[in-house]
Amino acid sequence: MKGIYLIGFMGSGKSTVGKALSRKLGVSYADTDKFIEEEKDMEIKDMFAEYGEAYFRELETNALELLDESIISTGGGIIKKSENMKLMKERGIIVYLEISFAEVCRRLAEDSTRPLWNKNDLEDKRKLYEERLNSYEANSNYIIACDSKDVNQIVEEIEALVK
Ligand code: S3P
Repeated sequence: MKGIYLIGFMGSGKSTVGKALSRKLGVSYADTDKFIEEEKDMEIKDMFAEYGEAYFRELETNALELLDESIISTGGGIIKKSENMKLMKERGIIVYLEISFAEVCRRLAEDSTRPLWNKNDLEDKRKLYEERLNSYEANSNYIIACDSKDVNQIVEEIEALVK
């Protein structure tokens, strides 16, 4: 089986779906954000505050290079670097978990762990979301509309696609 990379905006469910999918398929799983936090023994929000986004983006690319699990959940900003996209395309298939801006706002209303979401006001959040949409779409092999689906439905959809 080729690797499956899950991409999408913050709050789209990449980690939850990735874990559930790996259980269902009985294959290995990794998460770039989790890998980075464990590697540095530090939370991402503290990394951003102390060393800045560029530092985090280097670690993110490094994580992508090192991880070779069957299912890999990525951070929402993975599409910011073309080298990341190139690597994922070479190694596997890319599944975009699409959610609407309104749904992101609902899901992340109480969130305090995502610096690029928390520091922004509503208009900047919307701008970030809109800026990224094209990249997610253009760089994915499959797009799954996730707004009104539960985890099991999404897992089944991905399973059907990759079989
Ligand atoms: C980011 C998304 C986060 C995390 C970091 C930056 C982004 O991951 O990588 O806070 O730029 O969209 P999630 O997409 O899992 O929230």
